[in-house]
Amino acid sequence: MRSLVIYFSRPGNNWAVGYIEKGNTEVIAEYIKEFTGADLFKCDPKRPYSDDYMACTEEAMAYKKQNARPELKKYLDDISAYDVIYIGGPIYWGELPYEVYTELDRLDFTGKIVKPFATHEGSGLGSIENVLKKKCAGAIVKNGLAVQGSAVNSEMAKKQVKDWVE
Ligand SMILES: Cc1cc2nc3c(=O)[nH]c(=O)nc-3n(C[C@H](O)[C@H](O)[C@H](O)COP(=O)(O)O)c2cc1C
Repeated sequence: MRSLVIYFSRPGNNWAVGYIEKGNTEVIAEYIKEFTGADLFKCDPKRPYSDDYMACTEEAMAYKKQNARPELKKYLDDISAYDVIYIGGPIYWGELPYEVYTELDRLDFTGKIVKPFATHEGSGLGSIENVLKKKCAGAIVKNGLAVQGSAVNSEMAKKQVKDWVE
């Protein structure tokens, strides 16, 4: 089974963790890679969010209100080589950042297994399992994994990921 991780993650100032060099979700994506050999694709916005946490929350809310599809630095158009697609990000206002939607709208998920994951500070998976069932038409969407963002750099979080991917 060949695996791919499609994810968003943002370094900078964030809730509960202060300034971080590497985003919380990126840590989880790297655990998935370690346990499955998955390739990684990061949805990297052309226009990055502000480094400041509060400004970032406002930018994310504006995208939500507009149902935006923010441009990415690069895109992935073909996932035919993969069987399992992990899709994840931080929870932003209850769902995935819209950069992930930009990428998902380009892809054909027919016959794929989709595994949703998120990091968060209280919302768990939010609405992402239901949203991905709609966005990844033709895929089987498995149960998702939610990890608290401020706890990603722990043996417990790593074990949670290991148990889930297995
Ligand atoms: C714009 C924004 C909106 C957020 N909204 C939520 C939310 O609705 N629920 C929640 O539990 N956490 C929320 N958070 C916290 C993030 O989900 C959490 O810090 C996550 O681990 C960040 O992941 P990252 O470092 O990979 O970007 C929000 C953070 C930001 C920056």
